[in-house]
This record gives sequence, structure tokens and C-alpha cells, in this order.
Amino acid sequence: MADRPVILITGASSGIGEALAIELARRRPTGRYVLTARRLDRLDRLADELRKTFPSVETLTIPVDLAEPDGPARLASEVVERVGGVDILVNNAGLGLPNQFAEAEPDQIARQLGVNLTAPLMLTRFLLPSLIERKGTIINIGSAITCVATSALGAYGATKAGIAYWNDALRRELIPMGVRVCLVEPGPIKTGFMEAVESRIPPGESYDQVIDNVMPWMTANVRDVARKIAGLADRPRRRLSMLKRVVWPFRALGTIATLCPPLGDLVVVRLTRRPLAAPRTAEKAL
Ligand SMILES: NC(=O)c1ccc[n+]([C@@H]2O[C@H](COP(=O)([O-])OP(=O)(O)OC[C@H]3O[C@@H](n4cnc5c(N)ncnc54)[C@H](OP(=O)(O)O)[C@@H]3O)[C@@H](O)[C@H]2O)c1
Repeated sequence: MADRPVILITGASSGIGEALAIELARRRPTGRYVLTARRLDRLDRLADELRKTFPSVETLTIPVDLAEPDGPARLASEVVERVGGVDILVNNAGLGLPNQFAEAEPDQIARQLGVNLTAPLMLTRFLLPSLIERKGTIINIGSAITCVATSALGAYGATKAGIAYWNDALRRELIPMGVRVCLVEPGPIKTGFMEAVESRIPPGESYDQVIDNVMPWMTANVRDVARKIAGLADRPRRRLSMLKRVVWPFRALGTIATLCPPLGDLVVVRLTRRPLAAPRTAEKAL
């Protein structure tokens, strides 16, 4: 890897992407960090913090909406023009809108497909020449949700299942060229991502109450998650389940559903039987 590797992180304005930028800068203080998302103010704030804490770090912030059809191409061409290419690409930006499929607005489905699935594939394709030339690393953020299909997150899960399939195919294609491809499958983490869940919780119960009371044993700390993901840049792995203790209930349910589909249907339908409340906000892009 180059002395001053270029590290591109999508979705760096919050949550995993932001924590990962800080953790990678701690480990690679001579890196050149390209931070991208839509909220430029947050990206600039993070870039300032990185440069103050690690004076040898270089930063570049690029605002882009990855749901736009030309978003990935514009981002890739600006990266190539300004820093020449990429050594580590983290496809992290994503949104999950909990919805029964029949209730989902078509534009919300399209947005999830665009940001979570189309954008990582297209961005990677546009940046592949430099990743191959630099024998780089691609880290794709999937989700533990793919262990078991749940009706409340059908469209979101489809995008993450697509990422998992493509990740494995790409890894096999690029092994001979020395490019490493890693899939991260996080379970629930308390980030902005959960605001979409909050928007579906019936009025009267706060997001924190529900998350703290119902899922404390399932949610991982974003800094712990970032540390594990950052480790992949040094020691790539095919698949990193985050963290195993939070993922096991999904896995157990998935195994039940695979071994005995009628039982799987019964359990999942029962678990998701309570209808989600109507969203309190029209859309938090997550
Ligand atoms: N948190 C969890 O429980 C969890 C579990 C499994 C997997 N994941 C995955 O982890 C990844 C990061 O999520 P997170 O938990 O860190 O949530 P987060 O804090 O909300 O971060 C999501 C990031 O994606 C960016 N993004 C959203 N829409 C975008 C768009 N149209 N164009 C460009 N960037 C966009 C957001 O930036 P802007 O809003 O500034 O554009 C933000 O930086 C996602 O792929 C998610 O699916 C999360």
C-alpha cells in the first residue's frame, strides 16, 4: 500500500462512516481521506477534526447524492481528477426504511435500491482501474438482516442480499489481481440509521425507551464496530459479522426458516404481526 493511501468512505457524515474515518485516521495518520455524503457541513466538521487530531492527515470532502443516477460517476471522476485514484474504498452509505412492501412509497423503494445497491456497484466499477493498479481493498457494508427475510424490511434486505452476492462474486473475480474484497454484516447499531425505526414507533414511546428496553442486548456501539471494520484494512477477511453476539438471534431465526420453512414463516409472521405505526416524518433518508 502507498505511503499516503487514498481512503474513500461513502456515508461519512454520520454513524459508522464517521466513526470509521476517525478510527482509520488513528491507524493511518498519513492517509488521504475522501469523505462523501450529502451533508457537506458535517463532512467539513469531520475533516477539520481529523486534521486537528492527526496533523499529517489530508482530507477532501465531496458532497454527492448517491441516489441520483449520475451520483457515482460524478463522485468517481472528481476523486480520480483530484487525488488520482483509491487504495481503500468503503461502500458504507445506506438507508433502511422499515415498511411493509404494500405500504412503501415507490420513490422510497427506488431510493433504497439506488443508494444501497446501484451506487456501490457503479462507484466500484468506475474506481476499479485504480483499485486494481494499487492492489487495493474494497469494504462493503451489508447487513445481518440478510440472515432472515422479514416483511418490515423487505426492500432494504433485498439491497443488502444483493450486496452480499455481488461482494462474493467480485472477491472471486479480483483475487488473482490482488484486490481484497470484504463484506461487513452489522447487526443493530445505535446510529442515525435507527431514526427510521424511531419514525415507526407509536407516539408516546420514545426511541430511546424502545431501543434501551427492547434491544439493549442487541445493539452494538458504533465505535466498537468502527474498530473492527478498520481492522479489515490491515487484515482483510471475507466476511465480518458484527458483532456475533448481536447477530445470533437473526442467524438462529434464519436457520429455523431454512430447515423448516413453515415454522420460519410462522415465527417471522408472529414477530412482525404488530403493524408498524405510520411514519411520523415523511422520510428521514436512512
Ligand atoms: N445502524 C444499524 O443498525 C445498521 C445495521 C446494519 C447495517 N447498517 C448499514 O450501515 C451503513 C451505515 O449506516 P449507519 O448506521 O452509519 O447510519 P447513518 O448514521 O444514518 O449513516 C448513513 C450515511 O449514509 C449517507 N447517505 C444516506 N443517503 C444518502 C444519499 N442519498 N447519498 C449519499 N449519502 C447518503 C448519510 O449521509 P447524508 O445524510 O449526509 O447524505 C450517512 O452519512 C448503511 O449501509 C446501513 O445499511 C446499519
